[in-house]
Amino acid sequence: MKVGVARETTPGERRVALVPEAVEKLRAADLSVLVERGAGVEAHFPDVDYAQAGAKIVTAATLYSQSDVVLRIHRPTPAEMKLTHPGQVVIGMLAPLLDPETMAELAALGLTAISLDAIPRTLSRAQGMDALSSQANVAGYKAVIVAAEAFGRYFPLLTTPAGTAKPANVLVLGIGVAGLQAIATARRLGAQVKAYDVRSETREQAESLGAQFVTLRSAIDGAGQGGYARALTANEQAAQQDELNDIIASHDIVITTAQVPGRRPPVLVTAGAVECMKAGSIVVDMAASDLGGNCELSKPGKVTITPNGVEIHAPLNLPASMPTGASAFYSRNISNLLLNFVKLGELRLDFEDEVTAATVITHGGKVVQEATRKLLQPKTRGGAKE
Ligand code: NAI
Repeated sequence: MKVGVARETTPGERRVALVPEAVEKLRAADLSVLVERGAGVEAHFPDVDYAQAGAKIVTAATLYSQSDVVLRIHRPTPAEMKLTHPGQVVIGMLAPLLDPETMAELAALGLTAISLDAIPRTLSRAQGMDALSSQANVAGYKAVIVAAEAFGRYFPLLTTPAGTAKPANVLVLGIGVAGLQAIATARRLGAQVKAYDVRSETREQAESLGAQFVTLRSAIDGAGQGGYARALTANEQAAQQDELNDIIASHDIVITTAQVPGRRPPVLVTAGAVECMKAGSIVVDMAASDLGGNCELSKPGKVTITPNGVEIHAPLNLPASMPTGASAFYSRNISNLLLNFVKLGELRLDFEDEVTAATVITHGGKVVQEATRKLLQPKTRGGAKE
C-alpha cells in the first residue's frame, strides 16, 4: 500500500503531516511512502531527509494518482480534491463539524475521509493519536511566548543592582490542554500564575503546576460531557463575567483558551474588563476564530491595541509558528492512527472499533460518521439547534 505525504497549501501553514523519522516506521509496516516535493521544507525537513529515510519524492499529480492513502494537516483544497480518485483515503484535521458540506463533497468523490480531530479525547488507547491535544499543547506554550515577547517587562522576579523587577501576573482562563501548557510555560518563565475554569476538577491540575486556582463566588459548575464544559446559561455567563472583570484588571497578561464543543466560545474578557486593564497589559485570545473569541475585542488573526494601551493578540494558527516541533507531534499522531487501521500491509476498517467509528467521516460514497451526518440532515422546526 502506498502512503502519500501532501504539501500543505493553506496560507500560513508551515507544518507537514509526516516527518522523515516516521517514514521508517511506516516502511517497517510494509507500506511505501511518497512525499510531495517540498512538503517538509517549511518545517525544516528537506526532501533529502525523506529520501534518505526511504521515501520517493514526487509531484502533487503523481502523489494523488498513485497513493492509496494521503496524509495531510488540513482538508484538501478544491484544486487538490480534483486530483484525488475514488477509493482513495485522506487523513487529516478535516474539521467535519465546522464544515459538514465539504465532507459531503469528499463522500461524493468516493473518498474515505478520516479526521484526526474526531478522536475521542477520553479514550486512553487513542491518546497517542490525539492531534487536537498535541497541537493545543504547542499552542498553549507558544501563546505564552507571544505574550512574553509583547510584554514590556520581565516575567520573573529579578533583584539586580539596578533595582528589583516584580514578577509578571498571568491569568489563564480555561484549564484544558492548552491552558495547562500555558500555566506550565508561564511558571517556567517565573511568572505568578492564576487560573480559572468552569470545571472544578481542573483545580488540582492547575495547582499541581504551581498556579493559584481562582474560585468565583457564583461557583458555577460547568462540567459537561466527555471531559468538556457545557454552555453556560445567559445568567450564569453574566455572573461569571461580572466577577472576572475585577480579576482580569489586576493582571498583566491574560491568556484565554475556553471552548465548548460545537458552540461559539464564551466571552470571558469583556470590552469593559479590557478598559480597566493597565497600559502595557497583554491579552492572548487562543479561542478567537470567525465564530468569535473569549475576548470581546479580539479580531481573528490580528493584534489590536486599545486606546488605553492594552494589546490583544488573536492568533489563528499558533502550531504553524512552531512547525518543526508541531509537525513531529502531529506525525506521531497520524502514523499511530494509520497503523491502527493497517493489518498485513493493507487498510482494514472495522466500524465496531471506537476509534474507527469516531474518525471515519466518509466511506463508500456516504457520510458515515454520526455527528457529521446529523448536521447534514435538513433541520426540522422542532429539531433545529439554537
Ligand atoms: P479544551 O477543551 O481541552 O479546553 C478548553 C477549556 O475551556 C476546558 O477546560 C473548559 O472547561 C474551559 N471552559 C469552557 N467554557 C468555560 C467558561 N465559560 N469559563 C471558563 N472555562 C471554560 O481545549 P484545548 O485543546 O485546550 O484548546 C483550547 C482553545 O485553544 C480552543 O478554543 C482551541 O480551538 C484553541 N486552539 C487555538 C490554537 C491557535 O492557534 N489559536 C491552536 C490550538 C488550539
